[in-house]
Amino acid sequence: MKVVMIGAGYVGLVSGACFSEFGVEVACVDKDANRIRDLIEGRIPIYEPGLEDLVRDNSKAGRLSFSTDLNAAMAGAEAVFIAVGTPSRRGDGHADLSYVYQAAREIAATLTGYTVIVTKSTVPVGTGRRVAEIIREVRPDAQFDVVSNPEFLREGSAINDFMRPDRIVIGTETERARDVMRRLYRPLYLIETPIVFTGLETSELIKYAANSFLATKITFINEIADLCEKVGADVHDVARGIGLDGRIGRKFLHPGPGFGGSCFPKDTLALVRTAQEADAPLRIIEQVVASNDARKVSMVSRVTNAVGGNVRGKTIAVLGLTFKPNTDDMRDSPSLVILPRLLEQGAKVRAFDPEGMGEARKQMPDVDYCGSAEDAMSGADCLLLLTEWNEFRALDPRRIKALLGKPVVVDLRNVYNPAEMRAAGLTYTSVGRPA
Ligand code: NAD
Ligand code: UGA
Repeated sequence: MKVVMIGAGYVGLVSGACFSEFGVEVACVDKDANRIRDLIEGRIPIYEPGLEDLVRDNSKAGRLSFSTDLNAAMAGAEAVFIAVGTPSRRGDGHADLSYVYQAAREIAATLTGYTVIVTKSTVPVGTGRRVAEIIREVRPDAQFDVVSNPEFLREGSAINDFMRPDRIVIGTETERARDVMRRLYRPLYLIETPIVFTGLETSELIKYAANSFLATKITFINEIADLCEKVGADVHDVARGIGLDGRIGRKFLHPGPGFGGSCFPKDTLALVRTAQEADAPLRIIEQVVASNDARKVSMVSRVTNAVGGNVRGKTIAVLGLTFKPNTDDMRDSPSLVILPRLLEQGAKVRAFDPEGMGEARKQMPDVDYCGSAEDAMSGADCLLLLTEWNEFRALDPRRIKALLGKPVVVDLRNVYNPAEMRAAGLTYTSVGRPA
């Protein structure tokens, strides 16, 4: 079986490499010639644990190839996946579908025999039908079906998420397309992964509903954390106490500086817009968007308070810049809201992140980027922990105390033990835990 993957980004590259690991022949096509050259030469353009080995092994085995030439790649393919970006459209928050529709037009020009066209990108309800219309406009003679197959992987654990998903969602109306998708996902079928077959619109909505529900869970626990601080309760005990109820579940109840990343912020916003236009407003998600935006900004005052009310002239050591650990992705990271405000208020910011500094440097050139966590902390007036990379979790509180100029730590991911921090002589602020 052969498939084509259009877009060799986080989702396209991981999905392509994983399908090839299943034994499928995969041709990944990207319009970014530098990215394709890197991949052909064995350089992986994104940081994702395990991806380099998977790409190398399957390329060597001849099952995974990379090119900029869609027409050549399409020869003999039974399915073509659209895995291009769907960022927020400037101004109105709708998903920008220009990359998806452009890919549809390019596919149309290459179709020969019956082909399944799969949207793996996260796309609003109605997009699959529009993709079918575009293809019919260009090629009225073409034989094809459009399938919605949203992706639920998380960055940082993408390969495991793809290989062992909780479920696969497939939205299509024809048995012929269903059969192609079943054959493609056969290895997961064999390990009894539930497959949810639906219509196109339902499948498209499942993806937005899933991301928005998870974002709501995080926002809920963040607001409970704020309440915990006011009343002297511990948010982790609250999360455990409610999460052990199977109807609630323990996951995604970890408080922090607000959710970021390439998906929750843009997908919650896009769902709000879809719902408003359909005259079925999702007020709960509107509140989630507003609460999360405000939360990122409000994190600045935690730092200001910790250093005595004013950051002017103070040096803040920031550990972690990416929106979560084990990725180099900076998209909508809380750091992009917090650091510029600290700089505006006159702070000097010294930062370290294991993978995110290349991109961070482009977006925040006024930050002083350091070679290590220890280098960032040396002599600083405050340590601000923003992303819970393992190497930061492992720091010894006594070493932190020895390195800092002033013994002040603001931990927005709750990775340290408050008693140990205090025992080391540090003034420690975390999220939703008693002072
Ligand atoms: P990305 O920006 O990392 O990658 C997109 C790639 O598509 C880029 O390399 C770009 O050059 C390429 N591209 C765009 N138009 C093209 C065209 N016409 N032909 C060939 N290549 C083209 O994006 P991503 O993070 O992989 O996200 C892709 C989609 O998957 C989005 O809709 C996103 O919401 C969804 N998604 C992302 C994740 C995630 O963890 N990043 C998880 C689930 C779903
Ligand atoms: C998320 C979803 O988890 C995936 O299922 C989905 O496929 C993906 O979006 C997508 O559609 O792109 P991802 O953004 O990679 O995956 O990462 P998450 O682990 O979900 O974290 C998102 C944000 O929420 C991060 O900023 C993280 O720090 C924050 N978060 C997560 C919390 O603050 N608390 C939690 O308990 C969990």
